Amino acid sequence: MNEEQKQKYKQKYDQAKQNGVKFWPDIIYKDLLVSFAFFILLIGLAAFVGVAIEPKADPSDSTYVPRPEWYFLFLFEFLKFVPGKIEWMGTFVLPVIGVLVLFALPFLDRNPLRHWKNRLTGVSIMGVVVLGMVGLTIRSVITTPKNEEGFVANTPAGKMILGGELYGIYCVECHGPDGEGGVIAGVEGMEGVELKPISSRDEMYTRSDETLGAIIEYGQQDLGMPPFGLAYGGELKKSELDAMVFFMRYTWDDRAELPADAASAGAIPNLAENEIPSYEVHISKIIQRYCISCHRPGKENNNYLMGTYQEILTTGDNAANNLLAGDMTSYLIQAINGESIFDESGEEIIQQMPPTKLMKEEYISIFENWVLNGMPETAADAEVLTVEVTAEE
Ligand code: HEC
Ligand code: HEC
Repeated sequence: MNEEQKQKYKQKYDQAKQNGVKFWPDIIYKDLLVSFAFFILLIGLAAFVGVAIEPKADPSDSTYVPRPEWYFLFLFEFLKFVPGKIEWMGTFVLPVIGVLVLFALPFLDRNPLRHWKNRLTGVSIMGVVVLGMVGLTIRSVITTPKNEEGFVANTPAGKMILGGELYGIYCVECHGPDGEGGVIAGVEGMEGVELKPISSRDEMYTRSDETLGAIIEYGQQDLGMPPFGLAYGGELKKSELDAMVFFMRYTWDDRAELPADAASAGAIPNLAENEIPSYEVHISKIIQRYCISCHRPGKENNNYLMGTYQEILTTGDNAANNLLAGDMTSYLIQAINGESIFDESGEEIIQQMPPTKLMKEEYISIFENWVLNGMPETAADAEVLTVEVTAEE
C-alpha cells in the first residue's frame, strides 16, 4: 500500500467511525441484552425440559461406550491418529501449537485490507482449521458404536416390572416365587437344603437396600448363594440389581408404599368373569414368576424351556404329552396339580411342578382353563373364543 492509498483508507475509516455507534456503552449494552435473553432461555430449558440422565455409572459394565461432549469430539477423534506411545503429542503439544498458530494469525497476515478476498492467508488457515474440526466431529459420530440398548428402568413401574422379571429368572428356583424359602427341590446341587424366608418382616426390617444389593451382588458363597454382580462372575448390571432390590422392597416390606400407578405393574393379571386366558396376558406372566427360573437355557430339567409360546409347546423330553389342547391329562396339568408322572417301568419321570410348593389354586385353574380352550396365544385369539362361548350360552 502506498502513502496515497493509506491516506484514502484512513479517511474512509474515520468516516465510518463517525457514522457508527460507540463500543461503550452501545455495543456492550446490546451484548448484555442478548446474553441475558440466552441466560433466561437456558434457565427455562433446565427447569422445564431438562436432560435425560443416563443410568448410574457402573464400573463393572464393560459394554458402556464412553464419549466426550460433542464439542470435544474432534479432539477425541484426532487422538485416534496419534500412536499411544506419544499420546502426549496429541493431547497437549499439537493442540497447543494449533491454538498458538490461531493466536499468531493476525500477526502473520498483516494485510490492512479488510475484504476476505484480500486476506487469503488468514482465511485459508482458519478455513482449514474449521473444516478439520467439523470433519473430525462427523467422523467421530459415525464411528461411535451404539451403546447397547439395555432396558433401563427409571420409573417406579418400570423398576417393578424389570425387578420382578429378574427375580423370577434368577432367584425363584431357590428362594421361591414369594421369597418364602423352605426346603429346595428340583435344583441341582441344592436338593434338600433349607432356606429361611427372605421376604419376612425380620429380613425386610433388618436389611437396608444397600445390604440387599450387596448380598445379591457378591452372593454368600459359603452358604450356597451364588454372586450375581457382573464384576463377581454373575450376569447382572448395577441398574438391574437396583431394580431387583426395588421390587423386593416394595413387594415384601409392609412399611414401603408404592405410588398408585406402579402398584399393579408387573403383577399377574386376574381373570375376568367369562374371560378366556391367553398366553400373552396370563400364562406368560405366571410362568415368569413360577417356572422360568428352572426352565430356561442352561438348566437341564428334562430340557423343557418356557421362554416363548413355541417353546412351551415344542420342547421337553415329553414334548408330545406336556400340553394337549382340551386334555386334562396333559403332563403339565397333572404336574401343577401335584401329581407325579411315571413311565411304563413305574419310574417317576416328572415330579409335581413347581417341585417345592404348588402354585395358588387360582393360577392352576387359569392354566386348566387355558388348556381346555385350546391354548390361545394372543389376547385377540382368546377374545374370539370368549365371544363364541358367550354367544353359545
Ligand atoms: C442356588 C440357589 C440360590 C439362588 C439362585 C439365589 N439364592 Fe439367595 N441364598 C441362597 C442361600 C443358600 C442363601 C443363604 C441363606 C440361607 O441359608 O437361608 C441365600 C441368601 C440370600 C439372602 C440373604 C438372607 C440373609 O439375610 O441372610 C438374600 C437377600 C438372597 N439370598 C437373595 C437372593 C436373590 C435376590 C436372588 C436372585 C438374584 C437369589 N438370592 C438367588 C441360595 C440362592
Ligand atoms: C425349582 C425348579 C423348577 C421349577 C420352579 C419348575 N420346574 Fe418344571 N421341572 C423341574 C425339573 C427338575 C424337571 C425334570 C423332571 C423332574 O425332575 O421332575 C422339570 C420338568 C417339568 C416338565 C416336564 C417336561 C418334560 O418334557 O419332561 C414340565 C411340564 C414342567 N416341569 C412344568 C413346570 C411348570 C408349569 C412350572 C411352573 C408352574 C415348573 N415346571 C416350575 C424343575 C422345576
